[in-house]
Order: sequence, then C-alpha cells, then structure tokens
Amino acid sequence: MSATRVALGDAEFARLRELLSRTAGLVFDDSRRESMGYSIGERLRATGIADVASYLEEVERAGSAERQRLLDEVTIQETHFFRNPPQMRALRVHVLPELIRHADANGRRLRIWSAGCSTGEEPYTIAMMLRELLPSTAGWDVKVIATDISENALRAARAATYGSRAVQLATAAEVARFFVAQSGGRWTVRPEVRELVELRHHNLVRDAPPEPVLDLVLCRNVTIYFSRETTRELMGRLHRSLRDGGYLLLGHSETLWQVSEDFRLVALGSGDSAAFVYRRLDEPAAERRAILPDRRTLQELPLPPERRVAARRARSRVELPRQERVETAEAIPLSSVRDALAAGRYADAARLARLAADADPLRSEVHYLLGRALVDSGDDAEALPALRRAVYLDPEAGLAHFLLAGALARCGDRAAAAREYRAAAQTLARGADGDAHELGGRSARELAALCAQLEGQLSAGSER
Ligand SMILES: C[S@@+](CC[C@H](N)C(=O)[O-])C[C@H]1O[C@@H](n2cnc3c(N)ncnc32)[C@H](O)[C@@H]1O
Repeated sequence: MSATRVALGDAEFARLRELLSRTAGLVFDDSRRESMGYSIGERLRATGIADVASYLEEVERAGSAERQRLLDEVTIQETHFFRNPPQMRALRVHVLPELIRHADANGRRLRIWSAGCSTGEEPYTIAMMLRELLPSTAGWDVKVIATDISENALRAARAATYGSRAVQLATAAEVARFFVAQSGGRWTVRPEVRELVELRHHNLVRDAPPEPVLDLVLCRNVTIYFSRETTRELMGRLHRSLRDGGYLLLGHSETLWQVSEDFRLVALGSGDSAAFVYRRLDEPAAERRAILPDRRTLQELPLPPERRVAARRARSRVELPRQERVETAEAIPLSSVRDALAAGRYADAARLARLAADADPLRSEVHYLLGRALVDSGDDAEALPALRRAVYLDPEAGLAHFLLAGALARCGDRAAAAREYRAAAQTLARGADGDAHELGGRSARELAALCAQLEGQLSAGSER
C-alpha cells in the first residue's frame, strides 16, 4: 500500500519537532515537513489513530510505546559495509593494529563502540577487520558494542542478512570469508564475526556511554541530524569515555570545528586517500594545539603502490627543490600552484597541488587549489573529494564552498549543491574580500548574493 501524506500545520509540526529534539536530539528544519507528513501518515495508518492531534497526544504521553515507532519511522538508516574507504584503510593499517598492540600490553581488553550503528554494517565491518588482525581471540576480552535508537534497525542488525548493495564495497575475498550466501542474492554475516558484536538499544542524547573506558568510538553520520549544542554535549561524553590515546571517527561531512577543542585531529594516510580521525591525547593544556598533523603517523603509512607510481611520475615532471623533495608544504610553494592556474596550466597546477596536499594534508587551501585546478580542467567529479576536504578542514572557506556547489550541480546533485551554495553565501558574506581574480572580478559580498540566488533557484527546482 502506498503511504499517504498528511499535511502538518505549523503548530503540529512545531510540536513534533520539539518532541523529536527533546527525546532524540533530532533537528528537523522546514525542508523535512513534507517527509514528516509521510511518516505521520504511515503511523496513522498503522495505528488506526484518527487524526494528527490525537496522534501527537499519544506520542507526547509519558511511557508511550508509539514514540519508539515514530523514532523508527523518522530516523535515517543509510549505511553499508566498509563505508568510507579511506577511513577503513586507516583503521585496518593503523588504528586497529595500534589498539591491538596497546591492548596486548594492557590486559588484552579492547572496547570499540559503534554509536548509531543503524542496521549493523558498521560494527560488523569492524569485527571483520578484527578477525583479520586477530584470528584467535582466546584469552582476549574484545567487544564491539553497537548501539542505536531505532529498534527496527537493531532488529535488522540482529538478523545480519543483507542484500548485495550493502556489500558492494567489500572485496570478493571479504565476501567469501565473512559472509554465507543465501538465496535471492542475500548475504548473512558469519557467526565468528557476529560473536564479537554486542547490539544494544541506546539513546546518544540521554544515555551514558555503554562502557566506562573505550579504545575507539565510531559515531559516523549521526550528528548531522543534531544541533551544535547536542553534538557538543555528546562529544564531551565521548571524550570522557575514551581512554588517553583513544580514537574517535566521525562521518566525512562531520567536524568538531567550533564544537569541541578536546580532541586532536590527525590525518592518516596521504593525499586523496588520507582519512581524518580524532584522538583523545591527554597532555598539558599549554602544549595542546586543537589541530595538529601527526607527522610520525603520516610517515608510518606507506603510499599504496599506484599512488607511489603517480607521485614518482609527478615528481619527475615538475621542477622541485633539490633533496627531500616533498617533505614539507614549503617544498611546493602554493604560489607555484596559483601561477600554474593563472597561466592555464591546469594539469601542472593539479600535480603540484597534489604534492603539496601529500606533504600537508591538513591545510584546507591546498585542497581548494587542487579542486580549482580540476574544476578548471573540466573534471568536476575528480574535484569533489578535494573540495569536500577543503570545506571539512575549514568550514569558513567560502570560495571552496562556492566551487564545490558548482561541481555538485554539474554532477547532478542539486540538493547537495543547494546546501553548498547556502554555505558559500553565508561564509562569503562573513569573510573579508579576497583575491579579485578568484572572486571572478566581484566583491565577496556580490558573490555571496549570487550564491544565495543560485541556492534559491536550485531549491525551487528540486521542489517542483
Ligand atoms: C545514517 S545512520 C549511520 C549509520 C552508520 N554509523 C554509518 O555511518 O554508516 C544514522 C543512525 O543514527 C541513529 N540515531 C539517530 N539519533 C540517535 C540517537 N539520539 N541515539 C542513537 N542513535 C541515533 C539512527 O537511528 C540511524 O540508525
């Protein structure tokens, strides 16, 4: 049966928003009113409750079981195995081996928390990696605690059987090793993986962390639905529950910038395959820098073979200072990237920017310049990761938001493009006037107005 949408009036929508924000931290802006109308329509049909007013009374009632059904209906469960390959690589190559070494020397106890685990793909992925790195857990106390607010999601996680789309980022060897094939192209996670995972119902906004001392927390693609204040409080709790040296992984569009200064941002890997992770590193406050590249870690990780060849080729084609060629960003002055851009030598600009990004992956401007070089050479899809990194590292980078918006629009992602134009309009309006050439001869204020207009056009187009 197709779902029927109910039209939510202003007061009804406000009551729902208040309830969801108070009980689960979820923030719904006006753009979600229509989808919320479908969710409520579906719940009216399922419960037989006659109208929205009576439904609201029911879910607002203390102890209402229907409130859980509503949360199941409105939460977004999008996830898959091995999501975010650079993070997966960083986990496999660096984070998990280091945690295992630490645990080995400290009582062989390892606690990992997948917070907002959805239907289970994320915690099972971690358990698969643990099985690879630690084939026998005899004598070890290893647990991946996986929690979510949605009962529906946890039910699916317990069943641990998935369609082919969920496993598309797993290699054939991983599928063969960790799944049992079912009829109809479905896959069940093997028992030796499942036994490492403990699934629990948990509300990140209201409940204490499920364990007092954790080595690693994955809280990916969860806080995007929270307000900054809710996220700030949650990050405080996560920080307190991680041990010194513990890791926190967020989703690729989530950042602690202006949210928490408790963690240190660390880049693992290099260039396009770098992953950004946060760490709790206890040290005297005076010595702490909020954002600091961990160069030892960067050097520990070898480039994958194809990147090494690419880097060698790139190095042989460009003029670089003698000796220790790509050790620091200073080895590739950003002015040389800008000069190449100004001269229309986009391939050179991209090559130089890549080398600079390899040397200094935490600098937003480097990724912005790489994105610009790729956009200027007509390669929007290639430019997206670089521009996303630029805005991740510096959410106030107005020009990077602007370029990212254009690239997204040309790649057909109108909703994301509208969001980026909005961010560009806001950040450009706040920022100082920049280089007139980069602003296309306009003032920052004029470009901000143009971005607001483009956002309006895209949003209107997607509503039609
Ligand atoms: C988009 S999924 C992310 C799944 C997985 N972490 C990933 O990145 O693939 C977001 C999950 O957060 C859960 N969630 C939302 N609000 C929550 C809360 N207050 N407490 C616990 N889980 C919550 C949702 O039910 C949903 O399963």
